[in-house]
This record gives sequence, structure tokens and C-alpha cells, in this order.
Amino acid sequence: MASMYDRADIYDLTDTRESRAFYKQYWEKIFEGKNVKTMLDVSIGSGSVTIPVLDLGIELSGSDLSDTMLANCGKKMEKVGKKATLKQSDFRKLDCWGDEKFDLVASTGNSLAYVSNDDVCAALEQMDKHVADGGYLYYDSRNWEMIFRNHQRFYLYNPFFDGDTRVNLVQVWDYPEDGSIIFNLLFTFEKDNKMFQKEIFEEHYNPFPKDMAVNKLKELGYREIEIIEFPTARKVEDFDNTQWYAVMARK
Ligand SMILES: C[S@@+](CC[C@H](N)C(=O)[O-])C[C@H]1O[C@@H](n2cnc3c(N)ncnc32)[C@H](O)[C@@H]1O
Repeated sequence: MASMYDRADIYDLTDTRESRAFYKQYWEKIFEGKNVKTMLDVSIGSGSVTIPVLDLGIELSGSDLSDTMLANCGKKMEKVGKKATLKQSDFRKLDCWGDEKFDLVASTGNSLAYVSNDDVCAALEQMDKHVADGGYLYYDSRNWEMIFRNHQRFYLYNPFFDGDTRVNLVQVWDYPEDGSIIFNLLFTFEKDNKMFQKEIFEEHYNPFPKDMAVNKLKELGYREIEIIEFPTARKVEDFDNTQWYAVMARK
């Protein structure tokens, strides 16, 4: 089954002027009171989440496993007349960044859970190597504990329009016995009340508990570890009922 990331064109249907304005505000709140001038996103994908930091004067670099997503990221930057350094790399081995250090090293878009729990810890170690002294490590994640507790199967989105095409998206989540979770993404495209295209993607995740990664950050010497609600960027008050969170930790 195809991965969504082989079809960056479909992934980017939700990258709109509104979403970019939203992310600009989101990062503004995340950076408040912090000295962040350079940022590396190790799962930058097509840049839908992090390209907006360029409007805040941040110097952005990014890597990702998927060449297709990176190619789209490059095209989108060209379109807005911005530049960032992009490299193809697995976040479990970030040698491509040599000994470069950044004020913030991030993994955005719920990406760490693509690898095993042990490899999440390995990825955090790799990210840490590129965090400047006094800098920050950031990642966001779905609340996997909550997902297991609720065992939700269907996730329905509001339809949206791409020109005169109506796009519908439904996710169906499978829970195999090995503890992984499969998100099946079912897209349909309609014009004049007729469906003319459907696309199905499967994304395999290895859920990890919040505390596993937070404990790894503590072991790596991080302090001031903030758990932030996504997308409000407010401090998490009630983790059990927070669907998506981000962790921002100071080295
Ligand atoms: C949901 S997308 C997020 C992309 C981007 N951050 C965003 O939010 O639009 C997940 C990204 O993780 C990347 N990815 C998955 N496994 C990876 C790995 N081991 N190393 C680097 N990137 C990986 C995928 O190629 C994809 O671009």
C-alpha cells in the first residue's frame, strides 16, 4: 500500500494560506521569550509546518527520509522566494549535518513514531548532537496513551475544496496485536456530485509513551522540559485529555 509521502501533491492539499498563517502564529508562541535564530527540522517533509518560521526571520534547515516530500518543500520555498538548506536523511542518523549546531532541533508532524521505541531514543540522541548549548530540542506527537485508551477507529474530517474539486478524507485506524497502529487514509475527490478519483494510503506507527521520550531527554541532560498542547501552544494542564502535544526542552 502506498505511503502518503510518495504523494506530496495530495499531502499538500491542506497546505493553504490559512494553515501557513496558523503555523506562523503557533511558532511565534513557541519561540516567545526564547532566543531562536536557527532551526533544523529533521522530518521537515514538504515543509507545511516549518516553512512559516521563515516569516519570523528564522534561518531554516531541514532533512527528511522522503525525496518526494523534500522536492515539494524546495518548490514551495521557491514559490515564496525563500531559501532553506534541505538534505535527505533518516533522523536516526543525522551525519549529513556534520558538526553543525542549531538553536532549535525539531521533529515536526508526529513523525518520531514511524520508528521503533528504541529508535525514537536513538533519534533524540542524534538530534541532541546538533543542539547548540542552551538551545532547544522540540518534537510533537499524538497522545498515543489516549488513542489506546479510547480505541477510536474512525476519524472523520470536514470536506474541503481544492478549486472546484471537493475533497473528502476519512481515516480508519487499525490496532494490530503487535502494539503498532495503522492509519488508513481514504481520500475521495468529487466534481458535480460525482466521484472521479480515490486514493488510499496506509501509515504505520509505533506508539511511544510520553514519559519514555521525556526520560530520554532528562538522561541527555535536558532541563526546563515543557509539555505544550498542540495546536494551542498552551502549557498542557490535563495530559490525559490532550490529543496532540509538543515537547520543548532546553539543553
Ligand atoms: C506527517 S509527515 C510530517 C512532515 C512535516 N513535518 C509536516 O508536518 O508537514 C511525516 C514525515 O516524516 C518523515 N519520516 C518518516 N520516517 C522518517 C525517518 N526515519 N527519518 C526522517 N524522516 C522520516 C516522512 O517522510 C514524512 O515527511
